[in-house]
Amino acid sequence: MKFDIVTIFPGFFDSTFSFGVISRAVENRMVEINVHDLRSYSSVKNGKTDDTPYGGGSGMLMTPGPIGNAVSKIKEKELRSAVILTTPKGEEFDDRKAQELCEFEQLIILCGRYEGIDDRVSELYVDMKISTGKYVNSGGEYACSLIVDAVSRYIPGVLGNTESLDTESLRNGLLEYPQYTKPRIYKGKKVPEVLLSGDHEKIRNWRRRESIKSTFVQSPSFLDGAQLSEEENSFLKELKTRNSPGFNVYVALVHYPAYNSHLEVVSTAFKSIDAHDISRDATTYGVKKFYLVNPVEEQRRLAERLVNHWVKGEGKNFNETKSKAFGIISIIKTIQEAVEKIKEAEGQTPKIVATDARFSNNMTGYQELREKIFENAEPFLILFGTGWGLTHETIKEVDYVLKPISGYREFNHLSVRSAAAIVLDRLLSCGA
Ligand SMILES: C[S@@+](CC[C@H](N)C(=O)[O-])C[C@H]1O[C@@H](n2cnc3c(N)ncnc32)[C@H](O)[C@@H]1O
Repeated sequence: MKFDIVTIFPGFFDSTFSFGVISRAVENRMVEINVHDLRSYSSVKNGKTDDTPYGGGSGMLMTPGPIGNAVSKIKEKELRSAVILTTPKGEEFDDRKAQELCEFEQLIILCGRYEGIDDRVSELYVDMKISTGKYVNSGGEYACSLIVDAVSRYIPGVLGNTESLDTESLRNGLLEYPQYTKPRIYKGKKVPEVLLSGDHEKIRNWRRRESIKSTFVQSPSFLDGAQLSEEENSFLKELKTRNSPGFNVYVALVHYPAYNSHLEVVSTAFKSIDAHDISRDATTYGVKKFYLVNPVEEQRRLAERLVNHWVKGEGKNFNETKSKAFGIISIIKTIQEAVEKIKEAEGQTPKIVATDARFSNNMTGYQELREKIFENAEPFLILFGTGWGLTHETIKEVDYVLKPISGYREFNHLSVRSAAAIVLDRLLSCGA
């Protein structure tokens, strides 16, 4: 594999590829890395390669001429080659892409600088645009180094036996298991006993399970493509079920305090459709209890009649699944009452999570909260608002405020039932 890197800072790569796996691959001629100084392809005085953008705007853009000259000169017709433009606007680079690129014989990688590259370069010379992530670096040299390294690892022979690809994260659709080396105890943290047992079969099974567990928590969609044995599949099923070492999540539908359309604080009316739908959402995702919070006695009585119908009355014989879903409902007066009940059941105060359709500072992302939930270190109570949402006073007091669910339109008026389904899926789904 030949990498041809086009850059205005060739010195950037002086030491980048001089270490470990890649330097050995270069030494053993499995990989050839050529760094081309873009300035030497410029026909303008002083090797100028940039100019001001048409239409105005800050910064400079790289002109198409030198890049066009470089690509035409470097591209070898008899090789299977691809021209890659590094750009934050490109397809996100991942393991699959690294494997795909390894099939080429020559990769020409264009490193942008300043405000980027004249777009006609993409139209005329580029086969694929690649971004290494959702951030902006000062130059394409950073992305280029990552691409060369990740692709080279897939070239047969580049990795020795000691650096096998087989167990690495993402191979076989799984993230890697936790690894430990000496000392056995570091700052009070012990290496898991099984790794000291010398029982290779046991260690292999433990590692596979840990891999499945981290993948399930961090990237559940990867599991769709993973090849699991029958026993591993039942372990995964166990992880998905409510009593697994999964999570301790509670939800509450808050009728008071809530805003009305004039942003006055009111107590909203109980709706049976909310109880029907959210109890089913919550049961599906393994939520332990669904609190209906309403301080108005009349309202609570109404809710109790409905719940009793399905849990103890006629409804129980009529529809068992509905009866089961209604079984997790608890009707209470205040959010504080929910907190006390959870504290009693779990022996710990829950972290409270608010949901809000409005954007504000310091909101928490779904993946971040999902990881915290799956650490299983503490219980969580997720609050859903009624009317025009939870009040600022409530939101100010909670531990996390989840980012709003939103589409690309201005219209953003989900029913609380739909919002609850989406939030629970993002936080607790098994990703199937
Ligand atoms: C400062 S950036 C230009 C950003 C450009 N104005 C924009 O907003 O898309 C300069 C160069 O760094 C490289 N670069 C920056 N961030 C990148 C990323 N996330 N992935 C790949 N290349 C990146 C590109 O080669 C880009 O042309």
